[in-house]
Amino acid sequence: MLNDHNDAPIALFDSGIGGLSVLRHVRERLPAEELIYLADSAHTPYGDKSEDFIIERSLTIGRFFIEQGAKVLVIACNSATAAAVSVMREQLDIPIVGMEPGIKPAVTQSKNRRVGIMATAATVASEKFSTLAQRYANESELSIQACPGLVEHIEAMTHDSEESYQMLARYLLPFQQQGIDTLALGCTHYPFMLPQIREILGDEILVIDTGPAVAEQLQRILKQNASLRDQSAKGRVHFYATQHTERLREQIEKLWGEPVALRSLQR
Ligand code: DGL
Repeated sequence: MLNDHNDAPIALFDSGIGGLSVLRHVRERLPAEELIYLADSAHTPYGDKSEDFIIERSLTIGRFFIEQGAKVLVIACNSATAAAVSVMREQLDIPIVGMEPGIKPAVTQSKNRRVGIMATAATVASEKFSTLAQRYANESELSIQACPGLVEHIEAMTHDSEESYQMLARYLLPFQQQGIDTLALGCTHYPFMLPQIREILGDEILVIDTGPAVAEQLQRILKQNASLRDQSAKGRVHFYATQHTERLREQIEKLWGEPVALRSLQR
């Protein structure tokens, strides 16, 4: 039976525009759903922030989503998931879908058992990530690379510049030396650099982006909770940013591919 709760929005957040790479898979899989996307642009990037800071931001944003009547919350950010998902689950009364670098699918699918993982410094330094990496370290040779600076380029939309290409090439060099055949993208910003990653590592490399798996998991949870929206409805996306600028709105439009009304949120 459908009720008001089924019409309630699904809420997603990231430090900035990276989570749009998840949002697009959610939109594709669940076109009837109302979606709220929040870019914590006043505090981006999360990758160089302390765990306490990321936890505090994630709780603040989570409370805002609850006030908006969201039926489920998606942390469209690996760094925020690594730092905050446990505390959020303890303190917030809403189902939460988190995400983590796809080490498991990467290890399962690698043929030569050499796997590369790119993530932010905060994710790589987290306990959650160490536990995950240790679990699969016997099955494949894992090459782990923190990539400070890439998120800043993507946020500034300078990720097709020569400077950012050179930075990326430096981060990918150890993977080339190790001869990995599979790469896990452990940050939701990185899918926006996929053309450059493929140019450097070659088209044969298998790239694992967990965005589609997150959308699938979200659908599963909504089904389980009987809270999917009527499929004949047409969902909209409502965009918020903690630091609203015209430039940010343009960047979101560029990546999202549609005109966007961006609302400002002071929290
Ligand atoms: N896109 C985020 C992630 O998946 C955060 C990146 C950042 O803000 O440093 O980790």
